[in-house]
Amino acid sequence: MKKNYYVTTPIYYVNDKPHIGHMYTNLAADILARFKRLDGYQVIFLTGTDEHGQKVEKSAKKSGEDTKKFVDKVSLTFRDLSKLLNLSNDDFIRTTEERHIKAVEEVWLILQENGYIYFDTYKGWYALKDEAFYTKDELVKNSQGQLVAPSGAEVQWHEEESYFFKLSAFQEKLLEYYKTHPNFIAPKSRANEVIRFVKGGLKDLSISRSNFSWGIKVPNNEHHIIYVWLDALVNYISALDYPLVESKKFQEFWLEGDILHLIGKDILRFHCVYWPAFLMAANLPLPTKIFGHGWWLNEGQKISKSLNNTLDPYDLVTKYGVDQVRYFLFKEVNFGNDADFSHESIVSRINNELANEYGNLIQRTLSIINNSFNGELKSEKLGEVETNYLLELDKKLEEFRGYIENQNFLSYLDKCFEIIRYGNFYINKNTPWALIKEGNSLEGQAKNSKMLEAQNILYFICEIAKRVSILLNPFMPQSTDNILKQLNVPIEHKSLAKLTEPLPKKYKINQNYPIFAKYYEPK
Ligand code: MSP
Repeated sequence: MKKNYYVTTPIYYVNDKPHIGHMYTNLAADILARFKRLDGYQVIFLTGTDEHGQKVEKSAKKSGEDTKKFVDKVSLTFRDLSKLLNLSNDDFIRTTEERHIKAVEEVWLILQENGYIYFDTYKGWYALKDEAFYTKDELVKNSQGQLVAPSGAEVQWHEEESYFFKLSAFQEKLLEYYKTHPNFIAPKSRANEVIRFVKGGLKDLSISRSNFSWGIKVPNNEHHIIYVWLDALVNYISALDYPLVESKKFQEFWLEGDILHLIGKDILRFHCVYWPAFLMAANLPLPTKIFGHGWWLNEGQKISKSLNNTLDPYDLVTKYGVDQVRYFLFKEVNFGNDADFSHESIVSRINNELANEYGNLIQRTLSIINNSFNGELKSEKLGEVETNYLLELDKKLEEFRGYIENQNFLSYLDKCFEIIRYGNFYINKNTPWALIKEGNSLEGQAKNSKMLEAQNILYFICEIAKRVSILLNPFMPQSTDNILKQLNVPIEHKSLAKLTEPLPKKYKINQNYPIFAKYYEPK
């Protein structure tokens, strides 16, 4: 099995500040990267910014700033997301960096050398918002009867001389590839959408522009700049040192790695049609998988700048807490589907699932151990029920791996919460506090035996808490690290290989304090 894992997010346009869409993909990639690291993989998690093109140039002009200064500034707001969201990205690529520009020029030259580029005149529709060309048949009427792109973006008639990429030459090859690689595009519904589009016929793609200047110049023709999507897609290999194909990074992660591109459903065509065709044309291997996730609404409304409802990551994290947001986004909806962000729902999940169920299980267990046993458990005998439960749980590790393989975050979290619920059920059934109270009213051997019984119960909960907190670590790294510290789980146990290792005998926990506070409406 491949032990090198490469996960990427789209690189974001720097025409605007970060919103929930950017945060969502970044977090998904972070969770996968963290899980794979726990599972012993070498991981590269890449994100970054897409800084060229007409849309960005227009925003810079509007701001009145020098374009480079403008992109530097906005790019930083995306870089800052890593800190805010506790992302573990290994790199942050910018398309204005020299390493990227070199790679794009090289790809252009190879496509040209391989005979896939020619010069002609483009006539058609262009949507600036999508930075995409559309045919007449693709346009739809909006509510005002105006012809727009399928995404709703305004289109303009566009005519100019440009270079073309022979995309049409790849129609059959792509269809064959989708057929022989059924997991290439996920979820299934998105794969079907792409296949339908390709079967509908592929036209050659205009890959240069000449009526503005903010971009990478076409090699040997400085009047043209390279189409922003061809430029942007190359980021996935420029970050791996391409065109230096002998580099360790490129070898291990592009040639021998398991490669996952996470994207939103609106940019499928670029990633599942154009990108594989460019790679085929350049004789480079394709990524393993492209996952197109759904879109978030805000309280039932489409997110838009004009409605001022874009769900700013800074506001969300300040209001609810970073791990709370990380948890909510993946517990609320299946990753492939559209979702609705609602204040009521996040508060209910914070208060019920995180505070009442998970937090409470940990807190009451640890406070009893600290208050009644000075933090130390001298007995750790597991009964048959408990031993079997842990054995069964340990066998489920493959199930968790499977959920991650399929980007099924929701089932993963549901399974974790089944464990937490069992822990609460078990402690309520066995009432260690009652045994301690009874023990305290007795003397000698009778007292000891009650106390040992209580300790065995608490020890079992600690074993469960350790496992579930390691499993939840990729989702809520900060909180679960704190819980693992309170539980005094040796740091070398924080890996999936050590998940099933029993806690030390004669086990002492650390001071405990509540991790998940409830959310109360400000007065
Ligand atoms: N620059 C291109 C990507 C190039 S990748 C080689 C781009 N940038 S973007 O800034 O517009 O990023 C948009 C990303 O945010 C897309 O993945 C898109 O699906 C996602 N989202 C935008 N609005 C969204 C929601 N309301 N909900 C979830 N994701 C959404 O496209």
